[in-house]
Amino acid sequence: MKTTSIFVTALIINESLKMSSKYMPLPPETLKTIADQFPVNDQCMYLNHAAVAPWPKCTSEAVQQFAIENCQTGAQGYLTWLKKEQKLRTKLALLVGSKNEDCIALVKNTSEALSIVAYGLDWQTGDIILISDDEFPSNRIVWESLAQKFGVIVKQVHISAEDPEAEILEAINSAVNKPKLISISAVQYASGIKLDLAKLGEACHSNNVLFCVDAIQAVGAMEFKCDEWHIDFAMADGHKWMLGPEGLGFFFVKTNHIKNMNLYQYGWHMIEGAGDFSIKDWQPANNARRFECGSPNMLAGYALEASTDLLLEIGLDKVAVEIENNHAYLLRQLQHLGADILSPLDSNMRAGILTFKFSGIDSAELYQKLMGNDVVCANRGGGVRFSPHFHTTKKCMDNAINVLKTLI
Ligand SMILES: Cc1ncc(COP(=O)(O)O)c(C=O)c1O
Repeated sequence: MKTTSIFVTALIINESLKMSSKYMPLPPETLKTIADQFPVNDQCMYLNHAAVAPWPKCTSEAVQQFAIENCQTGAQGYLTWLKKEQKLRTKLALLVGSKNEDCIALVKNTSEALSIVAYGLDWQTGDIILISDDEFPSNRIVWESLAQKFGVIVKQVHISAEDPEAEILEAINSAVNKPKLISISAVQYASGIKLDLAKLGEACHSNNVLFCVDAIQAVGAMEFKCDEWHIDFAMADGHKWMLGPEGLGFFFVKTNHIKNMNLYQYGWHMIEGAGDFSIKDWQPANNARRFECGSPNMLAGYALEASTDLLLEIGLDKVAVEIENNHAYLLRQLQHLGADILSPLDSNMRAGILTFKFSGIDSAELYQKLMGNDVVCANRGGGVRFSPHFHTTKKCMDNAINVLKTLI
């Protein structure tokens, strides 16, 4: 995984050439929109979308407008708010590659959606749940809690940069010890390894294994295809690659599971006919709204709708290409400085995360110094993590690299 050999350098140059030959530059009007929408690039060197992203201007304006409206007319326009809420579900469905917006619930965060899955399914003692050995705690703790309650077995597999899906596929295909469910991050938060979800989804589908994807490091950074990849459950909070606020995310649940899952949160909002407070003989909503128990976070909804709109307008295919170009650019600069790259070198195996370290330099200290010099980044996986988005400018990356040069 980490090497700076001549072979690898050649591979990267090749990759970059490959990228540039299929690279269609964004049209000038789109570039102008992007420059206008992200004033953050003039304020600091923001390379931390894998943690909490800056908002585009349209999102900030949506929140300001909503605040003014609330101040001046309260919830007089609540019916318009409800339409906005529904539009958000529609757009999130597009963003995750689902034809059916009824499969989308609005949730607080990734952890909440993972808990809905974990406590919505029936478990037998000895059922196996498969995760990786380097999952973000949200996608480990919830399964471990089931182990304590129901005696399920949580198995961890290693995801290597050489063949990331190998151990998962082996487990799915095994005759004995087949997992009931695998729950995996589409893109690993520390190493940045991107899994081939199409391959994993196909294997899960044909082996009757439930496929749950923590999508927070992927949705908004690449094309995502819940329907095509046979994903049973996917979830993400909106504050990373989706460029929204913290505290509002989506939960995708395949249609056939909606009515079979156990519910453990109840309220006025999750019933069929919500809003008619006279209903006595209530039933849970027929769609994924049954997982939303009470009043929605409208303010965050306005924000996330604006961010989602912008991503869809640019196009996720183009977003992914721009991210890859930024990634490849930073990678070259870092290699030039002699960094050990801890993220995949193969462009097919990565999305937005680039983690690195320098031998003989403490990464935690380096991270602190970078932050002290306005390079916004993270300290993850034993290294410094850079995570540029599609809007990140060359100037921003060059400035960050120049700061880095003074610190190593
Ligand atoms: C892979 C992954 N899952 C989940 C989260 C966050 O979970 P939540 O949305 O519940 O705060 C993070 C945050 O860094 C993450 O990287």
